[in-house]
Amino acid sequence: METVVSGIRPTGDLHLGNYFGAVKSFLQMQHEYNCYFFIADWHSLTTHPKPEDIVKNAEGVLATYLACGIDPEVSTIYIQSDVKEVLELYLYLNMNAYLGELERTTTFKDKARKQPNNVNAGLLTYPTLMAADILQHKAVKVPVGKDQEQNMEMARKFARRFNNIYDTDLFPEPASFTYAKEAIKIPGLDGSGKMGKSEGNCIYLIDDAKTIRKKVMKAVTDAGPATPNSEKPEVIENLFTFLDIVSSKDTYEYFDEKWNNCSIRYGDLKKQLAEDIVAFNAPIREKILDYKANTELLEKVAKLGAEKARESANKTLDEVRKIIGFHKI
Ligand code: TYM
Repeated sequence: METVVSGIRPTGDLHLGNYFGAVKSFLQMQHEYNCYFFIADWHSLTTHPKPEDIVKNAEGVLATYLACGIDPEVSTIYIQSDVKEVLELYLYLNMNAYLGELERTTTFKDKARKQPNNVNAGLLTYPTLMAADILQHKAVKVPVGKDQEQNMEMARKFARRFNNIYDTDLFPEPASFTYAKEAIKIPGLDGSGKMGKSEGNCIYLIDDAKTIRKKVMKAVTDAGPATPNSEKPEVIENLFTFLDIVSSKDTYEYFDEKWNNCSIRYGDLKKQLAEDIVAFNAPIREKILDYKANTELLEKVAKLGAEKARESANKTLDEVRKIIGFHKI
């Protein structure tokens, strides 16, 4: 069975972008692949979270994984910092990662711009830690959203480079995966290109009905179509993207037709969209709250997952050490 790896940083509650960009694929893949889904708490350290938030945030993502339907009996769910083996592979990969290529990654450049007083080495070597996460389990598929494409290219490059340097085929080159036809980018409702925690434009899976309605009714729109069958501007296309993911096909077509014959009323569209998001979120929200309260279960799941992930990582590391020239420990 082929192996799948993916992770989400515990930088706050998960939002619809995380769900449709990543978690939805996790759910589809878990019965067909040998899956490792983890919580990337080490990656979240680049922004220096408060010590009192570290465990709580990781548990929040773990509770959300379970609430969404990831089954710990089927998939290996673990917290990144519980599997210290990844740091050894991170070190080896860093020896063959070059400053120039790391500095050139757009995510590094973006982050360096956003946090100019904290351009740390962890930020620079973020892609090597991500590659180590993936390669320690020899994953072939990685379900991620569009924003991770460059990190995935780096992971493939590091795998290829290791194989070339040591004349081995140890690491497969991992491919991005999505359930949709192309890589997914869920937009913000504020007219911005992407829903993201740092953008402050998220609809969280844990948002209640009142919050969702408020956020959706505030979505940016325009004056409406001037001519029939015209192309939708980005802010309107964004609303239709949401209809496409949470509403029925009939609802989508109803508003699409209204757009095409210039009779669309954005207020009606937003009301319907808000109700569809509320209906989508409600069962997940309830389960997140239940799981968050059950810390005993969360600890059990994390412990079991860490054991399985460590076993897999150690197997790979034994091979890596031998290839590099170290004696088997
Ligand atoms: P993170 O925590 O930023 O995001 C987690 C996942 O959610 C997806 N995502 C989106 N997809 C579509 N539209 C959006 N608006 C949107 N916002 C977020 C991301 O693409 C991602 O799949 N580097 C990773 C974490 C990571 C990882 C890994 C992932 C660490 N190691 C190994 C895969 C494999 C990250 O920062 O994701």
